[in-house]
Amino acid sequence: MTSAGSFYITTPIYYPSDLPHIGHGYTSVAVDTLARWHRQAGDDTWMLTGTDEHGQKMLRAAVANGVTPQQWVDKLVNESWFPLLTTLDVANDDFIRTTQPRHEEAVQAFFQALYDRGYIYAGEYEALYCVGCEEFKPESEIVDGTGPFEGLKVCAIHSKPLELLQEKNYFFKLSEFSDKLLELYKTEPDFVRPDSARNEVVSFVKQGLKDLSISRSTFDWGIKVPWDESHVIYVWVDALLNYVTAIGYGTDDENFARRWPAYHVVGKDILRFHAVIWPALLMAAGLEVPRGVFAHGWLLVGGEKMSKSKLTGIAPTEITDVFGSDAYRFYFLSAIPFGHDGSFSWEDLSARYQAELANGFGNLASRTTAMIERYFEGIVPVPGEYTEVDLAVQKTVADAAAAADAAIERFRIDEAISAIWTIVDELNGYITDNEPWVLAKDDAQRERLGTVLYTAAEGLRALAVLLSPVMPIATEKLWVALGAATSLGRLQDQSVREAGTWGALKPGTSVNGLAPLFPRVEQA
Ligand code: ME8
Ligand code: MG
Repeated sequence: MTSAGSFYITTPIYYPSDLPHIGHGYTSVAVDTLARWHRQAGDDTWMLTGTDEHGQKMLRAAVANGVTPQQWVDKLVNESWFPLLTTLDVANDDFIRTTQPRHEEAVQAFFQALYDRGYIYAGEYEALYCVGCEEFKPESEIVDGTGPFEGLKVCAIHSKPLELLQEKNYFFKLSEFSDKLLELYKTEPDFVRPDSARNEVVSFVKQGLKDLSISRSTFDWGIKVPWDESHVIYVWVDALLNYVTAIGYGTDDENFARRWPAYHVVGKDILRFHAVIWPALLMAAGLEVPRGVFAHGWLLVGGEKMSKSKLTGIAPTEITDVFGSDAYRFYFLSAIPFGHDGSFSWEDLSARYQAELANGFGNLASRTTAMIERYFEGIVPVPGEYTEVDLAVQKTVADAAAAADAAIERFRIDEAISAIWTIVDELNGYITDNEPWVLAKDDAQRERLGTVLYTAAEGLRALAVLLSPVMPIATEKLWVALGAATSLGRLQDQSVREAGTWGALKPGTSVNGLAPLFPRVEQA
């Protein structure tokens, strides 16, 4: 049994041979936002990310650069992959590298356990392998090459020639798990989300599964098969196991029981590994399957899946250097329905930054705090009697908070943000309609002015709490400006599930000056 309220969530572990691009950043900020939300809901949350450092792809890149594979991955991880987390304000709890002894030792223990349980056998294999995917390709993903690769078979994803490999390998009896997996997808309809991903997985498994080659003997950059040192463990099995080795599989039973099972968020490119092979490996080892696998879509640039190998890669810093990390997070998480593909363009990013962040949320925050400073010497006023329009704002806040929490339960970060944004829109309209600058000219309207500005400030308090998982930097500034840090405590300790309850912000709190949350950017 897992403890109640435990929420363990993972990103894929990325291949550090590529430099991080906005696609990797997308998955990481999505998972970070979900983790921050659950942490703020009081769940026993753990977020894991990391790097996938073994395999032929890594070995070849190291050789090409004249260094050992360990030197190569150390350099990339330190210079590019750790900094990505800082660039995007990702608050991961752990970072696993598959070259760490804690991982290598536990992978060997798992592999031995599968062998002892009779799920591994030695066999012969000959098939076309894609080093880019680190995968033997199924027929459906093998296409004829064009241009320089005319006459060769190439990978449908990488458009690079496949290699015919013939080896003695160890095999995992994946074929024995078709029925159990189909049963799992049936009894746990949310095991694979969204539905499009689930349907794809179900029809793939219905065709029947072949046993999986899970060792390689032609190179040695990997974890050795415990009973046969001439083989290394297939890099995908090594990689998938990170999700259990990081939380103490085989070494810390208590922590393992506390955290496992996990939710995995992945791009749809690696759905099958997570929704088919991974649960089968776990079943074979007698462990619980994941809580669920959520496959998000691809970021497209110029209509193509953005990738470093196709030279359409954009580094996250190209965006954050201009717009900041909050805007990066907000843009990708709000503009793309989570689970669908989304096209990236600088025009769209810049238009949404201006309309939604600068003019929408940022302006609401600046004018509300500025009016409290001007009309109430910077002290949050006491609200008078609420009228229908004020109560309508309160209802919007309560409904938005509930809808956002429900959307996050479904992993629909985009829907959560659009629910929260109803508060921004409502409050901007409310201020325009109630014209506090007009009320301020009439002493008889002093109490009404207090009610209007309290309502706006309290709405901002709710916005800061609800948007903090998405935009931790801007909301922290707002939190401090509202004086809430001194009266209510740290922003990251505010419950998202209570954010919709009206009246948390204390009248009498001192408001501090607020610089624009989303300053105007210079267009190149
Ligand atoms: O596959 N759009 O690592 P990887 C959206 N090491 N997301 C994208 C993307 C795009 N254009 N490009 C990449 C591997 N991603 C394995 C994983 S897990 C046990 C092992 C994101 O470096 C997305 O999350 O190729 C995708 O699944 C992942 O990066 C692939 O990262
Ligand atoms: Mg890849």
